[in-house]
Amino acid sequence: MTDRYAVIGNPVAHSKSPLIHASFARQTGQDISYERMLAPLDGFAATVHAFIAAGGRGANVTVPFKHEAARIATRLSERARLAAAANTLAFDGREIYGDNTDGIGLVRDIRANLGHPLSGRRILLLGAGGAACGVAQPLLAERPELVVIANRNAQKAQRLAADYAGQMPAPRGCGFGDLRDQGFDIVINATSAGMTDSTLDIPAGIFAAGSLAYEMVYGRETPFMRQARDAGAAVADGLGMLVEQAAEAFLLWRGVRPDTGRLRAELQAAGGG
Ligand code: ATR
Repeated sequence: MTDRYAVIGNPVAHSKSPLIHASFARQTGQDISYERMLAPLDGFAATVHAFIAAGGRGANVTVPFKHEAARIATRLSERARLAAAANTLAFDGREIYGDNTDGIGLVRDIRANLGHPLSGRRILLLGAGGAACGVAQPLLAERPELVVIANRNAQKAQRLAADYAGQMPAPRGCGFGDLRDQGFDIVINATSAGMTDSTLDIPAGIFAAGSLAYEMVYGRETPFMRQARDAGAAVADGLGMLVEQAAEAFLLWRGVRPDTGRLRAELQAAGGG
C-alpha cells in the first residue's frame, strides 16, 4: 500500500514540498504519496490526528505551526527540542516523533552547495522568530569565529542568544542599529520581512568583502537580496535549504537519502522558486 505523507501549513498552496518529495520518491523507487494540507489556524493538532487516523505516516510542517508541532510530538529529536520547533513529524502507532531538519538543511546548502565554510567565519543571523530559532544551534555547531543575532526587537535577539550562552562561541544578541561598523562573512536573513517585500533597516557595511548573503525565503527577489547585491555580496535564496531539509526528512521517513544536486539545478533553472 502507498504510504501517505503531507505538508501541513497555512497558507500551504505555494509549497514546493510535494514536487520535491515526488522527485525523491521517483529517484529512490519509494512508493509514497505526498499532498498539501491546509490546517485552520486553530486546528493544527486536529488536522494531524485526522491525518494519522486516515493512515498518514509523516508530515512536514510549515508556517505558522512549527512550534505547535514540537508541542504535540510525543518524542523530540535533540535538535527539535533545542529549537522548540519541528518541521518534520513521523507517525508510528501512538507515537508522534518530531524532528527539525531546517538547520542542517541551511548549513548543508551554505557549506556543501554554495561552498562557503562556516567554521572560523563571522556570522550574522537576522531575526529572532521561529525561523531563526530553528537554525541557531546547527550554525553554532559549525564552530564559527563569531555569531551575532540581530533583530528589529533587540530584546528578542538577546533572549535567543541567552539560550545558547554556554556554547562556543557564545552568540551575542542586539538590534539592527548596533551593527554599524561591523562586517560579516555570512549574513543570513531569517526574518519574514521578505514575504511582505519589506526592506530591513540594516547598515550596508555588514557585508564584508567576499561575503555571502543568504535569504531563507525562496522563490522571490526580496529587498534583502537587493540590499546585499548592491553592497557587493554573493546572494543565495532559500531554495537549496528547502531541498536539503526535505532530503533529511525523506531520510528520516524512508531510511534512504536522496541525491539533491539534480533537483536543485532543475528548480533553479525553472525560476528559483
Ligand atoms: P518566522 O517563524 O518566519 O521566524 P516569526 O516567529 O513571526 O516568524 O518571526 C518573524 C521575524 O521576522 C521576527 O524576527 C521579526 O522581527 P520582530 O521580532 O522585531 O517582530 C522579523 N520581521 C518581520 N518583518 C520585519 C520587518 N519588516 N523588519 C524587520 N524584521 C521583521
